[in-house]
Amino acid sequence: MTTALGRYETVAELRRLLAERRGAGDTIGFVPTMGALHAGHAKLIERARRESGFVAVSIFVNPLQFDRADDLAKYPRTLDADMAMCQSLGADAVFTPTVAEMYPAQQACTIHVERLADHLCGRYRPGHFDGMATVVMKLLQIAQPDMAYFGEKDAQQLAIVRRLVADFNMPVAIVGVPTVREPDGLALSSRNTRLTPSERRKAIALPEALRAAEAAIRAGVTDASEVIRVATLKIPVDEALRLEYLEVVGPDDVQPVTTIEGPVLIAGALWVGATRLIDNIRASR
Ligand code: PAF
Repeated sequence: MTTALGRYETVAELRRLLAERRGAGDTIGFVPTMGALHAGHAKLIERARRESGFVAVSIFVNPLQFDRADDLAKYPRTLDADMAMCQSLGADAVFTPTVAEMYPAQQACTIHVERLADHLCGRYRPGHFDGMATVVMKLLQIAQPDMAYFGEKDAQQLAIVRRLVADFNMPVAIVGVPTVREPDGLALSSRNTRLTPSERRKAIALPEALRAAEAAIRAGVTDASEVIRVATLKIPVDEALRLEYLEVVGPDDVQPVTTIEGPVLIAGALWVGATRLIDNIRASR
């Protein structure tokens, strides 16, 4: 039997509900999202459903983490479909605050991420991870969940969130959920909907490059610059494609690796037309 899914727009309403559920003995599983939900988000919600008594999903397009106004304006917003997906996956509550509810006054205190934001996306999206960490801190303070679920596709985000809760002694378990891919290997992303059919075909170059890097490491290449060279060859010369970065970093500290001796994260960002896609893969010697 499916129960009615509640939608809550204020911090006070959500807090009241979650306090009740906690009082009734439920563990709280929390899935923070920016909406435009796809099968990757479904995996987060399903995992939360399996592991917690009460599942809350948040849908909030956080202006603080957008470094470009056009990206914020173009971010897909599909609330009705999102609610239907949450309902069908058995989520219990969806938190859909407005910007004014989340930021009633200009934040005087924000999170600043050191070191972990120096490479990969952090280098190219100034302020993005500070804005992301600030809203995640707020959402975790609001929901106070036992577990919070994040996709491994945003590997740098996940590493920063793990560090955030460790640095601030927050009593929440951060659960990373594997990336979901299309049959041809493209990682699911809300941004994929912006690709034209021709761009969609070209976008496959990013996972192919990452797979080539992984194969090189498996074949014994330990020099990270050689791994990057081999991977970059998979990105065709095409006016629609621009590789922003392809780096080999430590999976937890997100610092560049020169000689691969243990587990690493190979991560890339590729512009396909006007759409920026990111992806990553883990590999180990
Ligand atoms: O990954 C996302 O959708 C966002 O960065 C998050 C974690 C919901 C914070 O706005």
